[in-house]
Amino acid sequence: MNCADIDIITASYAPEGDEEIHATGFNYQNEDEKVTLSFPSTLQTGTGTLKIDFVGELNDKMKGFYRSKYTTPSGEVRYAAVTQFEATDARRAFPCWDEPAIKATFDISLVVPKDRVALSNMNVIDRKPYPDDENLVEVKFARTPVMSTYLVAFVVGEYDFVETRSKDGVCVRVYTPVGKAEQGKFALEVAAKTLPFYKDYFNVPYPLPKIDLIAIADFAAGAMENWGLVTYRETALLIDPKNSCSSSRQWVALVVGHELAHQWFGNLVTMEWWTHLWLNEGFASWIEYLCVDHCFPEYDIWTQFVSADYTRAQELDALDNSHPIEVSVGHPSEVDEIFDAISYSKGASVIRMLHDYIGDKDFKKGMNMYLTKFQQKNAATEDLWESLENASGRPIAAVMNTWTKQMGFPLIYVEAEQVEDDRLLRLSQKKFCAGGSYVGEDCPQWMVPITISTSEDPNQAKLKILMDKPEMNVVLKNVKPDQWVKLNLGTVGFYRTQYSSAMLESLLPGIRDLSLPPVDRLGLQNDLFSLSRAGIISTVEVLKVMEAFVNEPNYTVWSDLSCNLGILSTLLSHTDFYEEIQEFVKDVFSPIGERLGWDPKPGEGHLDALLRGLVLGKLGKAGHKATLEEAHRRFKDHVEGKQILSADLRSPVYLTVLKHGDGTTLDIMLKLHKQADMQEEKNRIERVLGATLLPDLIQKVLTFALSEEVRPQDTVSVIGGVAGGSKHGRKAAWKFIKDNWEELYNRYQGGFLISY
Ligand code: BES
Ligand code: ZN
Repeated sequence: MNCADIDIITASYAPEGDEEIHATGFNYQNEDEKVTLSFPSTLQTGTGTLKIDFVGELNDKMKGFYRSKYTTPSGEVRYAAVTQFEATDARRAFPCWDEPAIKATFDISLVVPKDRVALSNMNVIDRKPYPDDENLVEVKFARTPVMSTYLVAFVVGEYDFVETRSKDGVCVRVYTPVGKAEQGKFALEVAAKTLPFYKDYFNVPYPLPKIDLIAIADFAAGAMENWGLVTYRETALLIDPKNSCSSSRQWVALVVGHELAHQWFGNLVTMEWWTHLWLNEGFASWIEYLCVDHCFPEYDIWTQFVSADYTRAQELDALDNSHPIEVSVGHPSEVDEIFDAISYSKGASVIRMLHDYIGDKDFKKGMNMYLTKFQQKNAATEDLWESLENASGRPIAAVMNTWTKQMGFPLIYVEAEQVEDDRLLRLSQKKFCAGGSYVGEDCPQWMVPITISTSEDPNQAKLKILMDKPEMNVVLKNVKPDQWVKLNLGTVGFYRTQYSSAMLESLLPGIRDLSLPPVDRLGLQNDLFSLSRAGIISTVEVLKVMEAFVNEPNYTVWSDLSCNLGILSTLLSHTDFYEEIQEFVKDVFSPIGERLGWDPKPGEGHLDALLRGLVLGKLGKAGHKATLEEAHRRFKDHVEGKQILSADLRSPVYLTVLKHGDGTTLDIMLKLHKQADMQEEKNRIERVLGATLLPDLIQKVLTFALSEEVRPQDTVSVIGGVAGGSKHGRKAAWKFIKDNWEELYNRYQGGFLISY
């Protein structure tokens, strides 16, 4: 059986109704994380009871059963004991058959100090004094449904909570650090709305009587979907009405939506093996947006999906060292490697494309068939395709295999010709490569659902086709010569488009007058940047297109554009053109900066707040004079306590003053960091420290990253901030990583934090 860092003291096996036989040897295979128990005689097959007495370690590695440090309001350091088992660390808490397809029920009892909160997957059914020690109690939890080991969880510590009952009768609690119950209210509201939403969408009820969401101070991932006891980083769960910014709210909503989706998709129906991890994570990463769109339509979250997941996935997947969505894994160390943008973001993107291809009604029907058929069991990618195929009558497996079994995605080249009243389009597909064109014998091919829209109705597909060969001609009936034609309505298809120059030229007015929908403007812009990065089109041409965005009002379009200009600035920081690109950035962002101003106007919403932060940050970083002056003024008032900065303005102001500041500014920031009570504020500061430009200060920031002041899970974002902050920072960060490799490797044990 699986076992890691555990000492077995005794083990015995009793066949049902028979006497127990003691194991005589424990042979640990440490590399494989296994132990073999030997018995004096051959055991009979059939049911029986295996008893194991063992000692494990409450470790400091944020995996298995580990301790998490916190400070009481009076300043005393204490520890909570918590678990994180996915993917393969249940075996660090107890010997078990630790594979997703080996499901069992669990009866859990915990013996804990009587003044501590003890939680597990199920509700408490008994609590009694522990006979040997009056300071302890024994807490017994109800039997779980049949489930995989990686979803088992328990927590012992000091927590407050807020509670409600969802419309469908589930008891929901959010556990927070002591004294911070208020900060759990936002997540509680989201969770209470989300449970009935999923119940309705899947047409399957939530199977447990309760669900707890709990904030854990030391936490490697963002959150973990343990059945009935979901664990979160503090910043993924806690919202303070005054001190949390808009993007934090949005993040909390997405993470809650993500983990609660797993309660069905993952927990009730579990992947057969880690090869199908993407099914879990890709699906949850898609449906979290559906859920947030339901709860907060004002977030326009689907547009944000494109810049957060879709383009990120394409960036990674265009590299020669990408991998297919479905990938075979063996050793536990290989499982950690696939928690990446391919499983999450490409997985979510191809599900979004599929959902769009078959429509919501059939998709929902197929989901219900899948969840009902495989409940309490395991399933593989093919099983989902089969259910969706039955529901929709379409060749799902044939289409989807081209997306999940081979890496990469296509570049569709398109040119057009007017033929009397019609428009003839010539399409061809070729693998898109970040380094330019595909080199190799047989270029992979995809079955690509393609939508085509025209200026007659930019929000409606005029034609939908399935491109199943390398080249295809398509005739669009009745398209006047002055109309534009665009591929990939809604930026849903997982491909990039390269237009002939004439077609591209005709689309530009649609950007300028905003008649092209925002997500189409975003996609067009992103394709152009990546084509220029790959050397397929000229960067100068792309920068000229930026001019068409003068009237752009959309936050997400700006955010993606800003990201792309950032990548270009980084490249140019190694050339003589750096100053010029800074000037260009100022020119692009000043008009929108002036329109927005510093203070919210009446009637503004979530997206205006995000846009203001983005634009001021960009202008401040580029050294826009008026922005710099105002940032300094506001920062001074903030530090002196005259006027506290609103949460949404803090990141851009901190970033601006640090980038253009000196050692004193850095010291003030570090002091603000020390004083901050909320982890969100600490993280906000940690992430901008790398903006500092002076070599000595950069070194100071790097040293700070590994200090006691920064929680181990956040060290990586401080170093990442330095690497992304400046040319000098980039070199210094790389050297720092090499110099401190042993320390970093020991801390993170090769887990996913080190690859970040
Ligand atoms: N199952 C994962 C948590 C996880 C990640 C466990 C890596 C083990 C290794 C969880 O459902 C998840 O995906 N969390 C995300 C947040 C989500 C909103 C994308 C995370 O931790 O980043
Ligand atoms: Zn997940």
